[in-house]
Amino acid sequence: MALSASSTLTFDVRVDERDLRAALERDARAGLGGVQKSLPPTWFYDEAGSRLFEEITALPEYYPTRAERALLERHAAAIAGYARSDTLVELGAGSCEKTRLLLDALAAGGGLRRYVPFDVSATFLKASARELSAEYRGLHVHAVVGDFLRDLDALPSGGRRLVAFLGGTIGNLVPAQRRRFFAALRTNLGPSDHLLLGADLVKEVPRILAAYDDAAGVTARFNRNVLAVVNRELGADFVPERFEHVVRWNARGQWIEMRLRSERNQLVHVDALGLTVPFARDEELLTEISAKFTPDGVRAELVRAGFVVDRQWGADAGEFLLTLARPGPRR
Ligand code: SAH
Ligand code: AVI
Repeated sequence: MALSASSTLTFDVRVDERDLRAALERDARAGLGGVQKSLPPTWFYDEAGSRLFEEITALPEYYPTRAERALLERHAAAIAGYARSDTLVELGAGSCEKTRLLLDALAAGGGLRRYVPFDVSATFLKASARELSAEYRGLHVHAVVGDFLRDLDALPSGGRRLVAFLGGTIGNLVPAQRRRFFAALRTNLGPSDHLLLGADLVKEVPRILAAYDDAAGVTARFNRNVLAVVNRELGADFVPERFEHVVRWNARGQWIEMRLRSERNQLVHVDALGLTVPFARDEELLTEISAKFTPDGVRAELVRAGFVVDRQWGADAGEFLLTLARPGPRR
């Protein structure tokens, strides 16, 4: 490690508990009151949900984390060589587990100064930021609690930034959200910044389905956890066991859908909203999409948003894709 001197640790809270609660109220009112009931996947990640996601990443069926880590192990040095960044920003950082590979590669080049983990899940973010700050002497860790769909303007400025958006989390956004997200990111990046995007690739459907419906039932628990979050935060009375974990491939959208299917006719009360939600037997609540991409598809979306794609890794092996891009000329 080429870093020296002492580390610093700062936290910016762009969304606090009250903002989150207001956003959950809005999402629950809109999503539970509609004809096709839905809740956005952002609400999976309280402390229990973040821990369940970590368990998912180690499951034999869940290939994306291993595939992405293998790509980073092989190509982090090349990525660092292209980007020559002094700041690593990580959107939806979670446990920052794969981050070390990028931090080490940037540090080996001698220029690394700052790490900016950015996540909506504050507890997990704080713990991971503290750990990394203790581990990397001389690194300035500037953690931001924020929503990457709303708060990209809160990214600390200055230096040469490499913005990593890993894990395939881009696939959890619906296409219109993706377009807005890429456009906002393009607006917030300067000429010496880069984007490193991890995206899961389209492959045989049974393999994808198994990754979201593991034999040990961890993904089912992760899926039902969103009901526990709504119960705790909004005083609802969902009985999670009365909802079955359902996974479906949407061929038109090229994405996995995770749903919770009501196993009986039931009424759910959401006290904080003064809402009674009727579920018919077999009615489904959509909790997540996870889109799968082609290398050309990723390239096209980035170019449309005003990025220039420098390189893609993993495009031939067909498992997972890393794309390095930078802002193109302003149009
Ligand atoms: N990047 C990690 C974690 C992926 S899990 C990995 O590759 O393993 C997705 C992460 O995104 C979670 O930590 C979750 O809290 C965060 N997240 C989800 N929606 C978000 C949003 N709208 N804004 C910021 N972070 C979000
Ligand atoms: C965080 N995200 C990329 C995961 C995915 O694969 O879409 C979330 C997840 N959902 C079920 N398993 C994992």
